[in-house]
Amino acid sequence: MKCLKCWGLMLSTIFLSGSSFATGKANISIIPKPNQITVNDGRFVFKNEMTVKAPANSRAKALLSQKLETAAGITLKNSTGGQANLLFSIRQSAELGQEGYRLQVTKNQIKLEAATENGLYYAVQSLLQLLPPQIESKAKISATWEVPCVNITDAPRFSYRGVMLDCSRHFSTIEEIKKMLDVFAIYKINKFHWHLTDDQGWRIEIKRYPKLTEIGAFRMEDGKPYGGFYTQEQVKDILKYAAERNIEVIPEIEMPGHGLAALAAYPEYSCTGGPFKPRTIWGVEDDVFCAGNEPTYQFLQNILDEVCALFPSKYVHVGGDECPKVRWKECPKCQAVMKSNGLKNEMELQSYFTKRIEKYLESKGKRLFGWDEILEGGIAPSATIMSWRGEQGGIEAANAGHDVVMTPGGYVYLDHYQGDLLCEQVKIGGLSTLQNVYGYNPIPKSIAPDKAHHVLGLQGNLWQEYMYEPSQIEFQLFPRVTAIAEVGWTKLENKDLDSFIQRIDDQQIRWDFHDVNYYIPMPEGNMNYIQFVDKVTLPFTTSRPVKIVYTLDGSEPNAASPVYTGSLTIDKSVTLKLRSILPQGKLSPVRIIELTKTVPYKGLQKVENLRKGMKMRYVKDGDYTAVDQLASISNWKDTVAISVNDFFKFKKKEQSGGAAILDGYIYVEKDGSYILHCLADQFYLDGKLLIVNDKMKKNAKSDITVPLTAGYYPIKIVFLNRVYAGVVSEWMDARPTVRPVDNSNRELPTPVYY
Ligand code: ACM
Ligand code: ZN
Repeated sequence: MKCLKCWGLMLSTIFLSGSSFATGKANISIIPKPNQITVNDGRFVFKNEMTVKAPANSRAKALLSQKLETAAGITLKNSTGGQANLLFSIRQSAELGQEGYRLQVTKNQIKLEAATENGLYYAVQSLLQLLPPQIESKAKISATWEVPCVNITDAPRFSYRGVMLDCSRHFSTIEEIKKMLDVFAIYKINKFHWHLTDDQGWRIEIKRYPKLTEIGAFRMEDGKPYGGFYTQEQVKDILKYAAERNIEVIPEIEMPGHGLAALAAYPEYSCTGGPFKPRTIWGVEDDVFCAGNEPTYQFLQNILDEVCALFPSKYVHVGGDECPKVRWKECPKCQAVMKSNGLKNEMELQSYFTKRIEKYLESKGKRLFGWDEILEGGIAPSATIMSWRGEQGGIEAANAGHDVVMTPGGYVYLDHYQGDLLCEQVKIGGLSTLQNVYGYNPIPKSIAPDKAHHVLGLQGNLWQEYMYEPSQIEFQLFPRVTAIAEVGWTKLENKDLDSFIQRIDDQQIRWDFHDVNYYIPMPEGNMNYIQFVDKVTLPFTTSRPVKIVYTLDGSEPNAASPVYTGSLTIDKSVTLKLRSILPQGKLSPVRIIELTKTVPYKGLQKVENLRKGMKMRYVKDGDYTAVDQLASISNWKDTVAISVNDFFKFKKKEQSGGAAILDGYIYVEKDGSYILHCLADQFYLDGKLLIVNDKMKKNAKSDITVPLTAGYYPIKIVFLNRVYAGVVSEWMDARPTVRPVDNSNRELPTPVYY
């Protein structure tokens, strides 16, 4: 008999010995890890026509039957007597609570027991994870359909284990959402926070206000309308689908900020009256709902009426984050409401606004959810807080007796990178590795012990600005959703990172059957362009232990290619291609590194009269998409840019158009190998074009390593001020950094001179 304490040891023994998924061994890979498990000798073998006994209309039984039938071709037969091979029973139990379950597998029988159908459903999800991953196949497949004998008694640490999808920034179809819900359900995720409205798109049909979707659901992108929305019938379809999977759907209707798509349709509810269009670039919009206008409240309440009627959740999320106050400061109506209600500032006006909405929701039997900004200016009495700007909002709210859900950006923002940004598609920024997410504890020490119960749980937020394709959404979600699930379910003392990382191997095969494009750790380290003198030694790492293969002849690496074994020394110009391989044989995307053998660049020993800054030629207007278009410009202006602000002086933030060419010098103190980083369109050093960033800004894939001797180097930066995929390129991003290869700080710009 193996007890819980042996879990890690047992897994590592099995995995290190290389026997990954062979059945006949108890390689248990359940995520989230059950809180109590003993593994016994022997196995239960599933056979056709085994008998099953379950409560009428059991969703749990239906799930198990459907999986066995589809993947294994095994049909269960309802038992007519009191006994059965598979026995599902509902029994009141304080220990198991609303979601817990007991799962006992012996050689002859499987007993599943819970206080609720939800608990039974989770017992089945655990049982499915004891079966080979092929059980997730959508077609009949061969496998050994047996499970180890175990005793599991399990219940969640937190009642809220959520994922937020932002269908406003990029629209997901009903089928795409269902696909995600299927996989969330495997991991006992029980809340789907549906971000339905924002500046860039209104996504839910409101029958009383058809223009919300006629106008607000579509924005112009690359000269074409982009968007979509969910009819109320489609919303009901998702609600039913989610409920069948133990998932509560919490709608978010953003107010008073992030409302531009609604205001494009109904500008009369803004402070200025518009006109507006749904926003086409990411970021925070200044035009918000007018908080001093009575009809605005009526409008929002009418919308909430339909939302409340549609969604059975007791919660309605009304956002409340990132609401600029610039319009309110200048709006006579907003100012009049502040005066008549004795509100000292616009923060208090937002609090007044939120409290009114809270009361309205209460009158409809609902509770208000809001981002932590709703604490500012006074929190609405019954509000539940989502703490996203770190943990402080959650700590304050919980200590003040409010329920909170922890979603701190530093840990559980699933829109962040999960590995080296050089190896991933462009993102909003930030880094939340799988290990980071797993390491999060939703109850910070500074929440008083008698207030800890106010922490309902945690949520991973996927803001979808940069998620242009469904495959990118899946890439961001998996495997990190499984870490969210385990943090939310498994008691702190039972968590185990090493075993979690190993259990991912089995889960990946399950995702393959769901056709999920999950993240595969890439060979990380080194720039994608490297110039070197004699030879260069390249170390690579992966964010989880996986094998790396490579080629030096330009061919695509495959399972038979040479295996990277610690470091790689290169002494001639080559194209290096690398891939990771997962235990099931699946290959990662290819990483390409161009290596060029060269002589060191020679720095100038002296340049007279250097001052801080760079010479700048610029034009304010004109839509330039390629550097060669600049040759036709005749109205250049000349100036000197000392600081970032000098650039913004002639170019308003978030305003595209124009171009700049900057000339100057950098100084390199000693001989060595340096990494050049610059997000401008072109970066020249010593007259050589070394960095080219066409298309996406916020992307450092073309950073280069070069050999430099000490001295001054002339540099030139060419910068086109454009909107790329919702991002305005900013001079801030164009500032170069030149750092020794052994200095990992990518952020500090290097001083420049002219
Ligand atoms: C948020 O990330 N603006 C809640
Ligand atoms: Zn106003």
